[in-house]
Order: sequence, then C-alpha cells, then structure tokens
Amino acid sequence: MVALMPLAKFFLPANSKIGEGKRYSAPAGATNVKTFNIYRWDPDTDENPRIDAFEVDLDSCGPMVLDALIKIKDEVDSTLTFRRSCREGVCGSCSMNVDGTNTLSCIKAIEEVKGDVDIYPLPHMSVVKDLVVDLSTAFAQYAAIEPWLQADTPAPPDSERLQSPEERKQLDGLWECVLCFCCSASCPSYWWNGERGYLGPATLLQAQRWVADSRDEATGHRLDELEDEMRLFRCHTIMNCTVTCPKNLNPGKAIGEIKQLMIKRG
Ligand code: SF4
Ligand code: SF4
Ligand code: FES
Repeated sequence: MVALMPLAKFFLPANSKIGEGKRYSAPAGATNVKTFNIYRWDPDTDENPRIDAFEVDLDSCGPMVLDALIKIKDEVDSTLTFRRSCREGVCGSCSMNVDGTNTLSCIKAIEEVKGDVDIYPLPHMSVVKDLVVDLSTAFAQYAAIEPWLQADTPAPPDSERLQSPEERKQLDGLWECVLCFCCSASCPSYWWNGERGYLGPATLLQAQRWVADSRDEATGHRLDELEDEMRLFRCHTIMNCTVTCPKNLNPGKAIGEIKQLMIKRG
C-alpha cells in the first residue's frame, strides 16, 4: 500500500466564517427565476469563503444543476470554478453537495430542489477553489488497491478471458461506480479516519469489484491487504454512503461482502 500524505481541511478555515457574497440579479424581464447560492473560495487570495447568489432565468437554462453552473460561468462570472466533463453521469467529475446531499450535478434536476439551490463542495475535503476539492488522497487510496486484473494464468491465445453469465453477474452493482467519491465524502468514519488510512466506501467498493471478478487470481493477496483495523474495519455500517450514491449503488453492502469473505476464510 502507498503511504498517504495528510491533508488540511479547508472547507471552513480555522477561526473564520462564511461571509456574505455578491448577488447577481436575473436579466430584466425574466419570469421564471431561481436563485443558486454557491460556495466561493480561492484559498490563495481570499481570507474567508463566501456565498454568492446568482439569479438564473430557468426559461433559458437546461434542466440540470450543472446546466445552471455552466450558464453562470458562461454569462455571469467566468471565475466560477467546478469540474465537469461528460454531463451524462459517467465521468464522475461533477460531484458536489447540492441541497444538502452529495451528488453529480449533471444528473441532479433543478426542479427536484424546492426553493433556492444551495451548492457547496464535497464536505470534509480540502478545497482547491470554489467547488473543486483535492482528491489526491482519495485517488492514492484507489491506486493502493491495485485496481486492475491480476492473473498468473496466461489468457487463451485465441480469445478473451471468458466468464459465465453467472460470474459476470457478480460484477453488477460494482462496475457501474464512476469514482465520484460522493459516498466517501458522506461517510463520517472517512471524515475522521480517511487521512489515517481508512480507505472509505468508494475505494472499498472498487476493491470488492476486483475480489468478485472470476478472472482475477489475486483474491488472497487483495484480502490480506484489506484485512486491517484501519483500512477496512473503520466502516461501522452507518450506510450514509449507500443513501447518497447518485448511481444508486450500495457501497455498504460491498464492504459487508468483503468482511464476510474474511470471516469465511478464517
Ligand atoms: S457503511 Fe457507513 S461507515 Fe461504512 S463506508 Fe458507508 S457510510 Fe462509511
Ligand atoms: S459508489 Fe457511488 S457514490 Fe461512491 S464513488 Fe461510486 S458512484 Fe460515486
Ligand atoms: S459531468 Fe461527468 S458525471 Fe457529471
């Protein structure tokens, strides 16, 4: 396993408070207006974070929260910073906290939010700028589980490594994970123990994805690496991870399956 560097928590810097920001009014004549209250902070230049309020004319905006963010960036404030790529819930990059829940902003419909739309970065992560958080630790943890197929048996010379339909089915509920880390950022145990070695639900679900793969021959090694009071057993089955996953996956169940395999092998 790789050594992990501790990170400071910058969501709300010590001895500071979130200040009131600017308000940007909707264009004159707009009749279908919704306000987006967005966390803003550039740690390099701003002493404190603030919340800016942007009034958006929904009649000229796409239906998703990400559409509103792109519209604000394009038309009102080009310095607003957030990650996005696919806008189809596939790349996992637009994760943030919308209306109190960690989610992918590209598949979160604006109409699902009653009243103003409050948007913050993923909680308990270091803020790089505005809605962009530092995922270095999370991705180092992901790399530590060696997320690739490991097999000593050579692949057949004339075909792929095949699986039966039943073996393939074991990967359902696991392969769909887009590594958005919404689940890890919602896990109280990860908040407190993530930088001390707890891998968190996103990485543990990915670990189970390889443990469950019939073509992989490194199951024993993988379980040996996971069998650790800190890496795995800091999960206390609180299940926030499963409640928040925007892809409707069940990291809590995947973690339970790893624990069961460990009990079975003694
Ligand atoms: S089940 Fe609870 S403790 Fe375990 S990873 Fe999910 S949120 Fe964290
Ligand atoms: S399990 Fe769900 S919330 Fe967690 S990283 Fe994967 S897709 Fe995101
Ligand atoms: S932009 Fe790719 S998941 Fe949202």
